[in-house]
Amino acid sequence: MLFDPVKVGPLTLPNRVVMAPMTRSRAKAGFVPSDLAPTYYTQRASAGLIVTEATQVSPQGIGYVHTPGIYSKAQVEGWKKVTDAVHKAGGRIFLQLWHVGRISNPTLQENNALPVAPSAIAPKGESMTIDYKMTPYVTPRALETHEIAGIVEDFRKGAQNAKDAGFDGVEIHGANGYLIDQFLRDGTNQRTDQYGGSVENRARFLVEVTEAVVSVWGGERVGVRLSPNTNFNDMFDSNPRAIFGHAAKALERFNLAYLHVTRAGPGDDVPGGPIDADFFRPLFRNTIISAAGYSTKEDAEKQLKSGNADAIAFATLFISNPDLPARLKQNAHLAPGDRATFYGGDAKGYIDYPSLEAAVA
Ligand code: PHB
Repeated sequence: MLFDPVKVGPLTLPNRVVMAPMTRSRAKAGFVPSDLAPTYYTQRASAGLIVTEATQVSPQGIGYVHTPGIYSKAQVEGWKKVTDAVHKAGGRIFLQLWHVGRISNPTLQENNALPVAPSAIAPKGESMTIDYKMTPYVTPRALETHEIAGIVEDFRKGAQNAKDAGFDGVEIHGANGYLIDQFLRDGTNQRTDQYGGSVENRARFLVEVTEAVVSVWGGERVGVRLSPNTNFNDMFDSNPRAIFGHAAKALERFNLAYLHVTRAGPGDDVPGGPIDADFFRPLFRNTIISAAGYSTKEDAEKQLKSGNADAIAFATLFISNPDLPARLKQNAHLAPGDRATFYGGDAKGYIDYPSLEAAVA
């Protein structure tokens, strides 16, 4: 099942083993992709599809040190090296377009500005400053209604830059408590304008961003990632089936490449119970990718066999097993990853995990 081809828009993926977007925090000065990024992604080009690490569409969208962007010329040049190398190796790669909203701090913002969000509600927890100190999240500034079109335009430009950089498509990051998700869920969106209140209003920003990105790529090369379950980044919604059901239906008109949905993790508190891919199947006609917590072939094949998802995104296993599809196919040993090198640093823990052939040689 994992090794049957699957269609994603005009692409035919040779397998259903997707490399999930993963922040690796190795970007250079100017938020330019690392010189090692072409090697890192090319080592993983046997994935049915690679989705890059989350990549901010604007300086305002930055929330962490050393994450790459897609708004400057140097960033586009850096990403071109990645897409060229992945394509030469026979792979397919989508860029994940990101704006963190409130998950930032003034040291990462231009002129030490407050991070922005749908509403002025601070997340619990801490954020890392530009000089690597932990600081409590600040209360973000609620966006004025008239500013929102400018952020939609940042996503459109990011999408255009991703096209110029040679990607095969883009994924809109609507998950994990970042800006789009902050608009979707009522724990973070208490607006009284056309972007808050009803599910239609809370999904409006997602729909407008999608429309803008689709204007560049066409729907069939655009995916959207949603995380209906996670409480990560202090997220909550009182009725997730209502907002995420509406969001999935509202995206139908774009004939998107795929919907990418994460499962519940241990400890997630989801009113009405965890939401799995089966919830989205009747609402969304194209490819569904299921993600989060896949650590065995059996678990992945069980989800595919259920018929509720068409492909499975693997995260940490792809860090430590660059040739993950081959290993899954052969039921080979899966190497454990070293968490200490997941975020930041250099080649260690980034491009030095061997492929199976190298490991047995
Ligand atoms: C992170 O950097 O911790 C991070 C980034 C993007 C996500 C989730 C986590 O979607």
